[in-house]
Amino acid sequence: MRLILLGPPGAGKGTQAEELVKRLGVPQISTGDILRGAVKQGTPVGLKAKLYMDAGDLVPDDVIIGVVKERLMSPDCGNGYIFDGMPRTINQAEALDEQGVVIDAALSIEVPDEEILRRLGGRRTCPECGAVYHVVTKPPLAPGICDACGAALITRKDDDPDTISNRLMTYHKETEPLKAYYKSQGKLITVNGVGSVGETVAATLDALGIA
Ligand code: AP5
Repeated sequence: MRLILLGPPGAGKGTQAEELVKRLGVPQISTGDILRGAVKQGTPVGLKAKLYMDAGDLVPDDVIIGVVKERLMSPDCGNGYIFDGMPRTINQAEALDEQGVVIDAALSIEVPDEEILRRLGGRRTCPECGAVYHVVTKPPLAPGICDACGAALITRKDDDPDTISNRLMTYHKETEPLKAYYKSQGKLITVNGVGSVGETVAATLDALGIA
């Protein structure tokens, strides 16, 4: 299965990817996670990406295309993968096509902007293992502490209200047109992402025909 998860920031792409990885046994390729890892390590890619990410702008296409090309060469991608947050522009989608990447489906998780503000305002993430929580809908067992590794949870720098607004604007302008792009290829599937995590997982599996 080669799958693309589309959707606005905070739609639950990472949350759904976590479930799909368990079901399908293929890796999640999150360009956001890869870039945050590069920032943490201070690599040249990370140094270049940081300013764009902190402002809620897209990292330039050439950087993303290079990072993804390298990731796809890993042996764990042999049986498929789930793209989370890639492609985000028509240029990136065309680059995947040019590299011969044939996807089975592009699944768009539909969530209105008002709900996105609620979700990202309450999101907490683990800086060590990357686990994602929400103070209301998915709280950790002990407040502020990661269930998985015990590290102190943080609020992502790009989850402040002004940056969220910019990310949403960028999504509507640059990324939403990908729905038409994949629709024209007969690959677009949409799911309602407004329900609970469990309801959205069920809708996603149903839409993909996975029992
Ligand atoms: P990235 O990390 O990809 O961020 P994003 O797309 O903005 O997506 P998020 O990680 O914020 O949200 P999500 O949809 O995964 O939601 P989540 O599951 O966490 O990118 C960050 C930055 O990197 C970009 O701004 C850009 O600068 C750069 N970048 C990355 N890829 C790039 C690319 N291809 N090109 C250019 N630049 C790129 O859920 C959100 C919250 O809601 C959580 O708290 C969760 O618990 C909760 N939640 C999830 N589902 C539900 C539900 N059904 N009900 C209630 N709560 C829910």
